[in-house]
Amino acid sequence: WRFIPLFGLMMLLLTGCGDGTISAFKPRGPVARDQLFLMKLSFGIMILVVAVVFIIYLYVLVRFRKKKGDKDIIPKQVEGSHVLEIVWTVIPIILLLILAVPTVQYTFKALEDHRNDKDAIHVKVTAHAFWWQFQYPDLGIATAQDLVIPTGKKIAFEITSADVTHSFWVPSLGGKMNANVGLTNVYYLQADDVETFKGKCAVLCGASHSLMDFKVKSMDPADFDKWVAKMKTPAVIPADAQRGEQIFKDNCMACHAVNAQGLGAGPNLNGFASRELVAGILPHNDESLKTWIHDPQSVKPGNSMPKLGLKDDQINDVIKYLNSLK
Ligand code: CUA
Repeated sequence: WRFIPLFGLMMLLLTGCGDGTISAFKPRGPVARDQLFLMKLSFGIMILVVAVVFIIYLYVLVRFRKKKGDKDIIPKQVEGSHVLEIVWTVIPIILLLILAVPTVQYTFKALEDHRNDKDAIHVKVTAHAFWWQFQYPDLGIATAQDLVIPTGKKIAFEITSADVTHSFWVPSLGGKMNANVGLTNVYYLQADDVETFKGKCAVLCGASHSLMDFKVKSMDPADFDKWVAKMKTPAVIPADAQRGEQIFKDNCMACHAVNAQGLGAGPNLNGFASRELVAGILPHNDESLKTWIHDPQSVKPGNSMPKLGLKDDQINDVIKYLNSLK
């Protein structure tokens, strides 16, 4: 009974995983639901085994205890029992089969390659230390950090890495998938409703592994189409942001594309003003941008963005420009 407080503590820790936007226990799509079913099934079987063993153990403990008046004699020795051996071989086989059949079934279902489905949205994910690049080859757009998807449609992923092994993980939508250099992993995810989910890199990849977050925004298909159209339309840069645009062109353009499908050493910043976060972790505001541009290493140690040495007024101009990239 002294383990009850420990058990309570464990339950308390588990409830900490309950944040709706990043919990495998609160599935928001069909793949995540299948996987939660598998978790519950394996957990149920484990509880069943523990309970049966514990009950037999208690029964034997009580039934065969030494009673008053028992003589100190050695009881009858039993060596080998075919019946028992068959029973404890067959039962685990049955339990493993119950577990294996749906596991294999759901695993292969989640790994299905939907890249050629006309109804699916094809997204190519490339992991970089420490950010995420998302390309939509059929739609002719590329973006970073905020993955935008329509609800109710299969998102057919093609996942790879530009540098080291990372792992793409959106707990609310389904299990993780490794991003390996020179390899392409395919699987699909799907979201039920309009929502913003948290995504994480799930394998240790360097100094800022724990900061390698991203967002998944699911939208109504109509809003998604609008987003695609917007991403293909060049932003109108107001007069007061044009000085910043020039500074950006001189200092940042070598790595950052600002157009529909450009790729570079750094994230494409097309539509940047509508993104949830700065550098994937800071709240989206001028203060965060200032901190980031001034000294990127102080925010995400080990990332590839250099300290540009811009003056404060130049940084303010660049921020004005970035804010106009709607
Ligand atoms: Cu990328 Cu951990």
